[in-house]
Amino acid sequence: MNNRIDPEKCSRCGLCIEVCPVRNFKKTENGEVIYITERTDICQECGQCMAVCPEEAVYVAGYDYEKDLFPLPENPVDHAKYMDFLAGRRSVRNFRDKPVPEEVIEKILEPVYYAPYGAAPEKTRITVINNRTVIEEALPLVVKFLDDIGKWMENPIARFMMRRGAGAETFSTVKNHIYPMVRKGHYDLRYGDQITRGAPALIFFHGDRVAEEHTNNALIQATYAMLAVHALGLGATMNELVPAAVNRVPELKKLFSIPPDDDVVISLMLGYPKYRYQKAIRRKKVKIRMNDER
Ligand SMILES: Cc1cc2nc3c(=O)[nH]c(=O)nc-3n(C[C@H](O)[C@H](O)[C@H](O)COP(=O)(O)O)c2cc1C
Repeated sequence: MNNRIDPEKCSRCGLCIEVCPVRNFKKTENGEVIYITERTDICQECGQCMAVCPEEAVYVAGYDYEKDLFPLPENPVDHAKYMDFLAGRRSVRNFRDKPVPEEVIEKILEPVYYAPYGAAPEKTRITVINNRTVIEEALPLVVKFLDDIGKWMENPIARFMMRRGAGAETFSTVKNHIYPMVRKGHYDLRYGDQITRGAPALIFFHGDRVAEEHTNNALIQATYAMLAVHALGLGATMNELVPAAVNRVPELKKLFSIPPDDDVVISLMLGYPKYRYQKAIRRKKVKIRMNDER
């Protein structure tokens, strides 16, 4: 059904006109609020018009008042609780030998539906590998890829090509963080799994490599999911090593059933935490500048 306003229900308050980010509503000369049909193709399908309408008079394709909209929660967190929640989260890298039930994974991914997005959110995909055997099968391939990076960094021509191919940001990450660890033998599987840390589950956030905004959207989705992991009493750590390898080793894409043309942005390794942290840490690493402060 086309996007529209039900004139019988509409109270002409005009809230939809105000909140629509692309200005797809207007008031006619006789005060009627209408949907501008010619602008349908720029609708962002955010649903804000439906969420703000006191009369349930707005209809946007893809959303249904019965199925997709619901009353606002009565007790949203206040700032103090929100800060306590965030301060208590840690990147967990020690897991109990306990699988994560499918219904818990579903709860972890539920917040993704509430995440903000740029452009086309339907173009990001999430793949859950809730299977330690498959993860272990992948580890030697990831380590081989990391060893290859070490070799490329030590060869001037390969290093130059890598810098050109990967871009300045990724190259800096490799040069300053990954390569030194590879050289120190940090990822050598003889000393244990320093890559997925024994996690029972891995979740990949990906999208076709040319899909608009998939990098930003996937990172935000992964962050929302990571916070849900914490809210559920489990532990997670973002993992960029496995995605880096998956993106360049076709065998890994196949093993994890990720489409060949997809770019994996980030993954989350997760499970039940082995240890409890006693303290929160306030780090002031990010520089925040207020207005014209120098
Ligand atoms: C984009 C991104 C990528 C990350 N990749 C890894 C990773 O590959 N392996 C890892 O152990 N931790 C990874 N981390 C976790 C950070 O190292 C971690 O957030 C940092 O050590 C701070 O610890 P905290 O999360 O407990 O505050 C990553 C975090 C982010 C945001």
